[in-house]
Amino acid sequence: GRPVRVHHLRQAKASGARLTMITAYDALTARIFDEAGMDMLLVGDSIGNVMLGHSSTLQVRLEEIEVATRAVASAVTRAMVVADLPFGTYEAGPAQALDSAAALLRAGANAVKLEGGAPRAQSVRALSQAGIPVVGHLGFTPQSVNSLGGFRVQGRGQEAGDKLLQDALALEEAGAIGLVLEMVPSDLAQRVTQALSGTTIGIGAGPHCDAQVLVWADMAGMTDWRPRFAKQFGQVGQALHQAVQDYGQAVREGSFPAPEHGFEQ
Ligand code: KIV
Ligand code: NA
Repeated sequence: GRPVRVHHLRQAKASGARLTMITAYDALTARIFDEAGMDMLLVGDSIGNVMLGHSSTLQVRLEEIEVATRAVASAVTRAMVVADLPFGTYEAGPAQALDSAAALLRAGANAVKLEGGAPRAQSVRALSQAGIPVVGHLGFTPQSVNSLGGFRVQGRGQEAGDKLLQDALALEEAGAIGLVLEMVPSDLAQRVTQALSGTTIGIGAGPHCDAQVLVWADMAGMTDWRPRFAKQFGQVGQALHQAVQDYGQAVREGSFPAPEHGFEQ
């Protein structure tokens, strides 16, 4: 089909069609996810935890997202590629955000994502005015894990809920095309979804968002990490383990390589 772009997000919201997003960090998996019909691929800074062995997203550098974005973009024919701005590459203000976002667009991203609410509005405006679609990220924002006090649900209660809604409206007013809502109560996610004309992309945010995102390693069963919102739709880790085990055994017992795997004179 035709590439998914910003206007398709608006069309989907208007028609009530749910959109799908999954993380991708390389060409190998990006091709599979694109062919499987994902509307958006997120080159998330979760690459730090998932692929690079870090304990948080704070260690991820812009260059690492650039490399991953180039790989993902090279493999995609339909999905919209959204790339995360890593910690420390945009918070200083619009000029820094523009430099960093430009690097990701040069690498092939169609949009960038950044964390935070009203304090980010100026930068969101600068990027939007430069023609760079921006996706926000509210609720549990992993780059702020040290001030949020750990991995926990955000926006519980009237006051915190109202503040999150105000942050969402500030991002939209600044030009954001949508935002990720991570680990917020389902009724708050519904309120935000109804209040915004942009796309809400939920993860641990209940069934009322316009779109859903999951980290591919979680949904495919690659690890033991199983938060309640990360349903496993496959056991790919187990399948890969078995394939490698079978390969090793075949080599050790001499059944592989067989004559047909070799070349004639
Ligand atoms: O980096 C990431 O994977 C994300 C999603 C969890 C939204 O930001
Ligand atoms: Na992220």
